[in-house]
Amino acid sequence: MNKNKITVSAFAKRKASGEKLIMVTAYDTPSAAAAAAAGIDLLLVGDSVGTTVLGYETTLPVTMADMLHHTAAVRRGAPDAFVIFDMPFMSYQPSDDEALRNAGRAIKEAGADAVKLEGGAEHVGLIRRLVGAGIPVMGHLGLLPQRIQSVGGYRVAGRTEAAAAQLLADARALEEAGVFAIVFECIPSELGRRITSELQVPTIGIGSGPDCSGQVQVIHDLLGLLDFTPKHARRYAELGNMMREALSAYAQDVRSGAFPSESNCFK
Ligand code: KIV
Repeated sequence: MNKNKITVSAFAKRKASGEKLIMVTAYDTPSAAAAAAAGIDLLLVGDSVGTTVLGYETTLPVTMADMLHHTAAVRRGAPDAFVIFDMPFMSYQPSDDEALRNAGRAIKEAGADAVKLEGGAEHVGLIRRLVGAGIPVMGHLGLLPQRIQSVGGYRVAGRTEAAAAQLLADARALEEAGVFAIVFECIPSELGRRITSELQVPTIGIGSGPDCSGQVQVIHDLLGLLDFTPKHARRYAELGNMMREALSAYAQDVRSGAFPSESNCFK
């Protein structure tokens, strides 16, 4: 094992030191290699692969096979990175036995270091079992994309006093069950600050304010690969436009005969 790789036991220390944790999604070998070279701490193979890469409208159709395939590619691109496997919809909900088998496949077959699953106190028994079997678990609270059908849309979570209290109770339950960190998706910044100060484990925010212990973003949003940018994201590049421009220049060169040139040809 690489001695510079961040370990699960280092997460709480990192939070205590005040040094922010930086996480980004990755779905393939080149993006994983780029993220690792950029000094990103944690690579999340998110089930957002469904909407960013596979052309689905939601994350619900993503399968274990999809996740294993993409996680193995990420591992090949970043052999020393801490890689988290996002458990897809219905890979852990049917039963704890099935969840344990699937999480085991993430580690054994795809080379993940940990798994992430969405939800609160209802998963405490499962999380204890996974952690007991040696599988590190990251929680995910707030906006839960896998519950889009029942919630009816992508909305900021925890805006009422009751919802905020429920989130805090769920966060405490996850911490107690043994998660090493919790993602908070789209909660008010003040609640992100409050929950972060009340937990021992780090909070990783996406649209949850600057006071979380770290931040996570979807790589396609950061790189400007999609037309729509969520409010919580910032575009650091315009790779979508660059791709379109490069491909239309190539098409034009083929049409005009400018490509291939002498230097692209074999004798
Ligand atoms: O799938 C994903 O990309 C995620 C992030 C939004 C945290 O779960």
